[in-house]
Amino acid sequence: MQGSERSKILIVGGSGYLGTYMVKASIGMGHPTYVYARPITPFTSPSRIESRREIQSLGATLLQGELDEQDKLVVAIKQVDIVISTLAVPQVLEQLKIIDAIKVAGNIKVCTLSSSLTARC
Ligand SMILES: NC(=O)c1ccc[n+]([C@@H]2O[C@H](COP(=O)([O-])OP(=O)(O)OC[C@H]3O[C@@H](n4cnc5c(N)ncnc54)[C@H](OP(=O)(O)O)[C@@H]3O)[C@@H](O)[C@H]2O)c1
Repeated sequence: MQGSERSKILIVGGSGYLGTYMVKASIGMGHPTYVYARPITPFTSPSRIESRREIQSLGATLLQGELDEQDKLVVAIKQVDIVISTLAVPQVLEQLKIIDAIKVAGNIKVCTLSSSLTARC
């Protein structure tokens, strides 16, 4: 299958520890891979900045925004076929914002979120 025929995957939290592995696996399987991450600030850790550089160098497209910015999240979601969230434990309930954005976008058939929230996609 050609790369252009592969499902496009958005990984929210793809700049994190687990997310970076998911991004590498997605790219390795030939999926056009997008990462939704917060903008870099003076408080962003050097390791997080480095992981962003790494996943971008591998071919991931970085889309910047907050979970509260539904318009940006919807734009990101509309570009893909599959949404995966690897957000950390404190953000488990904040994933409801991803579900809301998926409903607004209306194009997602597969989504996988941390915890049992996936059933609500
Ligand atoms: N680490 C492990 O060994 C391991 C093993 C099994 C399962 N897990 C599970 O995997 C999930 C992720 O863990 P992790 O270790 O990969 O966490 P992590 O390295 O801290 O990554 C967390 C991700 O969440 C984003 N994030 C953090 N705070 C946020 C906020 N307030 N708003 C929006 N985004 C925010 C970060 O993105 P930014 O770049 O925007 O900061 C980052 O990409 C957790 O549910 C954990 O239980 C982890």
